[in-house]
Amino acid sequence: MNVLIIGSGGREHALAWKLKQSPKLTKLYALPGNPGIAEFAENVNGIAVDNHAEVIRFCKDNQIDLVIVGPEVPLADGIVDSLSAEGIRCFGPSQAAAEIEASKVFSKNFMARNQIPTARYVTFSDFEEAVDHIHKIDYPVVIKASGLAAGKGVILPETLDESISALEAMLVKNEFASAGAEVVIEEKLIGQEVSLMAFSDGEYCVPMIPAQDHKQLLDGDQGPNTGGMGTYAPAPVLTNELLNEAIEKVLQPTIDGMQNEGRKFIGVLYAGLMLTKDGIRVLEFNCRFGDPETQVVLPLLETDLIEILEACIDGKLKDVNIKWKDGAAVCVVLASKGYPEKAENGKLVTFKKLPKDLICFHSGTKFDESEIVTSGGRVFGLTAFGNDIANAVQKVYSNIDKVSFDGMQYRKDIAQKALS
Ligand code: AMP
Ligand code: GLY
Repeated sequence: MNVLIIGSGGREHALAWKLKQSPKLTKLYALPGNPGIAEFAENVNGIAVDNHAEVIRFCKDNQIDLVIVGPEVPLADGIVDSLSAEGIRCFGPSQAAAEIEASKVFSKNFMARNQIPTARYVTFSDFEEAVDHIHKIDYPVVIKASGLAAGKGVILPETLDESISALEAMLVKNEFASAGAEVVIEEKLIGQEVSLMAFSDGEYCVPMIPAQDHKQLLDGDQGPNTGGMGTYAPAPVLTNELLNEAIEKVLQPTIDGMQNEGRKFIGVLYAGLMLTKDGIRVLEFNCRFGDPETQVVLPLLETDLIEILEACIDGKLKDVNIKWKDGAAVCVVLASKGYPEKAENGKLVTFKKLPKDLICFHSGTKFDESEIVTSGGRVFGLTAFGNDIANAVQKVYSNIDKVSFDGMQYRKDIAQKALS
């Protein structure tokens, strides 16, 4: 089969790495891909992902049998609908189903309609009304821009003033453009977070191994929120009992509810969960593989990924026996100086040979002539596979010096929560 991956980050590198092991694969392409992916796929340049007609033409010219869409923006933009209408098999949700991530207002109202446990909330598009609400309630809140904001649309205010500034930035100053035209004000929850992704064929879903992300920049969960500074799997905090609760109360009701509402969800459903003392609560849904979570989950997947993705498209996921490896994976994100506010770019990267059981997934790199330079905030996800989490942690940290670039920063405590 000829397969095309859409995207250019660590998630797509991990997808490419896993797809490369499939006996079904003939040729792999990535649009636009990155220098890491280029080691085993052909990167496609000169086609804008939002130009669906050109993507369709590329797929037809190159006999693409399967397209896998990594990021949320093209999904929310309806690329799966466009390609499917031309008979091109595409893994990912339709535009209507992607709304579960693309609109937090839709997502919260959907959860309320379908009794899926989540934080109490109210939605607003009027600044005065939102401020009035903030004055009336007596619990700490989180303020969220409803639309896609590349991980920057969630504010955790410490004071009333900060809450009002966040609302002003979204509803008055338009700092989040159309993404901030509506906001969700929700109750701040306390607990440990877990990322639970599931494959779905629209009716039936199978959870992947749970992972834990580290959103904050600095050790001990200090500093500003980021797209994620590292991750590990499995996350022992999601016990079997809690996993069953998550399937029963969150994953399956979501797949059922989306189908009942005419938005059949085929693809990866990502549930960001908070394990509170009152039970599981959904913080957010994403309509795709998580990043960096995918960088630890796919190395643990035993089953052929193409077989699973095709079964999702064909509505036959029940027929696949999805198997996972024993052991654990830990990924430490190597970020640029200045991330997340203003990341440096264009720094030359040097690599030394990595031992087996380690993979350096590229998230933000590009070619400069024949050399590789940094081109984003999160540059690499260095991932180690081990017998257990402690072993994977030891492997990843003892090999960090194999990759280097000017200004490189990373957290030293990834996965410590699982060990303490
Ligand atoms: P989201 O994009 O909605 O997952 O939010 C990004 C991050 O903000 C989450 O991973 C949490 O760390 C935090 N967060 C979001 N909603 C809440 C909430 N209701 N209570 C506490 N923390 C939250
Ligand atoms: N790691 C969070 C996300 O993929 O959105």
